This record gives sequence, C-alpha cells and structure tokens, in this order.
Amino acid sequence: MVTNYTEEIVIEKAQNTKITDVDFANIAFGRVFTDHMFTCDFEDGKWQIPKITPYQAMSIEPSARVFHYGQAVFEGMKAYKDADDNVFLFRPDQNFARINKSAARLAIPEFPENYFFKGLETLLNLDKNWIKSGLGNSLYIRPFVIATEPAISASPAATYRFIIICSPAKAYYNQPVRVLFARKYSRSADGGVGFVKAAGNYAAQFYPTSLAQQKGFQQIIWTDASTHKNLEEAGTMNIFFRINDKLITAPNNDRILDGVTRKSVIQLAADLNIDCEVRPVSVHEIKTAAKEGDLKEIFGAGTAAVISPVSAFGHADDVFDLPQLDNSYAMLFKEKLMHIQHNLAEDKHGWRYEVK
Ligand SMILES: Cc1ncc(COP(=O)(O)O)c(C=O)c1O
Repeated sequence: MVTNYTEEIVIEKAQNTKITDVDFANIAFGRVFTDHMFTCDFEDGKWQIPKITPYQAMSIEPSARVFHYGQAVFEGMKAYKDADDNVFLFRPDQNFARINKSAARLAIPEFPENYFFKGLETLLNLDKNWIKSGLGNSLYIRPFVIATEPAISASPAATYRFIIICSPAKAYYNQPVRVLFARKYSRSADGGVGFVKAAGNYAAQFYPTSLAQQKGFQQIIWTDASTHKNLEEAGTMNIFFRINDKLITAPNNDRILDGVTRKSVIQLAADLNIDCEVRPVSVHEIKTAAKEGDLKEIFGAGTAAVISPVSAFGHADDVFDLPQLDNSYAMLFKEKLMHIQHNLAEDKHGWRYEVK
C-alpha cells in the first residue's frame, strides 16, 4: 500500500520559454525537452516535497549508486491534444502501476500515487504549449527514478530522485523495420528483470543490436533465453504475428515487459472480432508460415511508435520479406489507437484520461 502524501508542489517557473527555438515539423525523438521538469527526492525514509523547476542539469556525486550498480527504472508515456486543445493521457494508471512494479524489483521505494498524478498534471499544464494537436503529434513523457546516495557499496541506496521530463515527439519509426530473430544473445533471463523497465535492460541490447544493424536489420526480436526457440518481444515493443487472419502474441512472463499498447491491441482485436491467441509462438512456426505464404504480417506495439510494421525478418541464414497489404492489421490498430488517444473516437474502455 502506497502512502498518500499531502504536501503541495513547490513551483519555480521558467523565466523564458525555449519553444520558439523548436522546429516542430522536423523534430528528432528525445532530443528537445520542454521548459520544466518535476523532481522529488527520497530522503530520511520518505519522499520529500516535490518540485517543478526549469529543465536543467543536475548536480549528482560521481559516487551515486546509479552510476555503479544501475539502480534505475523508468516509464514511457505520452500526452495528446485534441483539436480543441484538451490534453489527454492514455491509460496512465498502467504506467504508474508499472513504475512501482519496476521500483519494487530493483529495491527502490514506491512512489506515491497522488504525487505522480498531481506532479504530472501540473507539469503538463505548465508546458501545455509544447503539445501539438494533430494525429501523430504528442509529448513523450519520461518518468524515472535513480539511486542518488553517494556510496559505492553494492546494496540498495538510502536516497533516490524521482524525475519527470517531457519531450515533444512525432511518430517514432516511420518506415517499416527489418528485424532479426535472436539466436545467441538474450535481453533477459528467467527470474531476472526483463518484465520491468530497468535501465540496464536497454544497455544490454545495444551491442547485439549493433551487430544486427551491420547485417541490415534495425531491431532484434528477442527469443527465450534458454532455447532461443520462442519469439518474445522487441527491444522497445511487444510483437504480434498474423498468420492468415489470426493474430498471435507471446504470453507475459518474467522476461517480457507487460506493454500497455500490447494489452490495448489484444482488447481491440476482441472488440473487432479478430482472433488473437496469446500463447508461445515459435521461430519454427513463423518460418514455416512464411514459407507457405501464410504469414501476412509482423508488427511491434509500444508507446513510442504505437504500431510499427515489419517489412522482413531474418533468422540464421534465412531472410523472409513480408507482403505489403492494403488492409493490414497494423494500420487498423494504429488508426484505432491514435483515434482514441486524440479524442477522435469513442473510448469505450475508459482509456483516455483528461488532464484538467
Ligand atoms: C522492452 C519493451 N517492451 C515493450 C514495450 C511496449 O510497452 P508500452 O506499450 O507500455 O509502451 C516497451 C516500451 O515501453 C519496452 O521497453
């Protein structure tokens, strides 16, 4: 049970906005940040009074444990604007629950729910002008927690900082991606931290991904660590396979991140009467379906890209190109999700959260 805290947020507003320097039509993902940031320190066994300040560099001791033992977790979520300038989040309760699940796994104290929502909404209200309306535009929100205690002994820190920064974004991957099925490296292990958003999960992928890139693939589809026979997820996306008209996605386990987009696609598929099987899916099954012409699509699902179609996959010495469909499920789900996110469609599951 997370304690509810009652203190107000201390706000120091930026004197000038940086927004006039930003070319919103040509924005690279995650490089430009809004005028403000939210911070809250954990000291003396409790989360202290949160602050909103101008976005700025922080002073942290080189001995802070995050730099040595990677005690850090994060989230990724987005804010959207409709044509009337109303601001919405998409299923933020899921991100809140997940950052605390990640925190618990890394022995980081859980963050209070009312601080999370009040902090986020106050920050978004201050930086509202950075959210552009129009399909595909959004403000990417990055809540994260780092261990700040200056002590290089390998044990959980006594002090932490919870931070939220925001970055204006367009759709993340615009082009269909070529993916390589993993045969040697793994992103996560049984009993490990693959099911949470631990910073180290991402660093561990950079080297194998660079090897895949040398072979002409942008992303790796990770397989189960012990046999490399079952397909699990991509580096920042869950993955769906379409064999004829049936969708298949791997069940969650302790190696796979429980994605918000994935569970939304599974629900939308049910709403649309599209058969979606949540079960182990093997490399063999997908290669056989590709050879027989039954594999119609592969796509990734995640907050950053929403839905990211795959144009080809490689495994061992084989490469299979996927057909280009006029009526792809990938595009169908992308449109449905974006319309809900931007307040252009009925929200029958109550996923939209209006920021007041
Ligand atoms: C490893 C991994 N898998 C899947 C996802 C997709 O999750 P979500 O849909 O919640 O963004 C992400 C992104 O957060 C991720 O980092």
